[in-house]
Amino acid sequence: MAELEKTLALLKPDSVRAGKAQEIMQLIELNGFTIIAKQKMQLTRARAEEFYAEHYGKEFFPKLVHFMTSGPIWALVLAKPGAILAWRALMGPTNVFKARAEQPKCLRALYGTDGTQNATHGSDSPASAAREIKFFFPSLVPDPVSDPGAAADY
Ligand code: TYD
Ligand code: MG
Repeated sequence: MAELEKTLALLKPDSVRAGKAQEIMQLIELNGFTIIAKQKMQLTRARAEEFYAEHYGKEFFPKLVHFMTSGPIWALVLAKPGAILAWRALMGPTNVFKARAEQPKCLRALYGTDGTQNATHGSDSPASAAREIKFFFPSLVPDPVSDPGAAADY
C-alpha cells in the first residue's frame, strides 16, 4: 500500500477560463483524492517566474509565464496514498497533443489547449510537492503526529 501523500495541483488559466474548474474538482474526488485545501487566485509575473524557476532560460519560459498570468487559477492540495504519481497519471502527458493521441481520457487530453496551455499542473516529486504546497499554502504545516516523516520536508 502506497504511503498517504500530499501533492500540489493547479487548475491553469485555460481550464478555469473554460468554466471547467468544478468539473475537474469532481473528477479529482471521484478518483479518490481528498482536496484538503483550495484557493482561487491570479498569479503575478514575479510569482509565476518563481514557481517555474526550474525552467528559467528555456525557450518556452516566457510564453509559460504569460499563460500562467493570463487569468485566475485554482491551487489545490490533494491527499491520497501515492498522490504525487497518481495525480501525474490522471493529468497525463505534458503535451496536450501527445496526451490526446496516447491517453485520450486523461485530464490534459480532455481539458488542455496546446503544448503550453495544458489545463493542470502537478508536483513531480516529494521534494517539489513540499516546496509547491508551501509556495501556495504557507500556513499548511505538516502534522507531526499523523505525518511524522513530513516535517523534514518543509
Ligand atoms: P514541465 O515541468 O516539463 O511539465 P509538467 O507540467 O508536465 O511538469 O513544464 C512545465 C510547463 O511548461 C508545462 O506544463 C507546459 C510548459 N511547457 C511548454 O510550454 N513547452 C515545453 O516544451 C515544455 C516541456 C513545457
Ligand atoms: Mg513540471
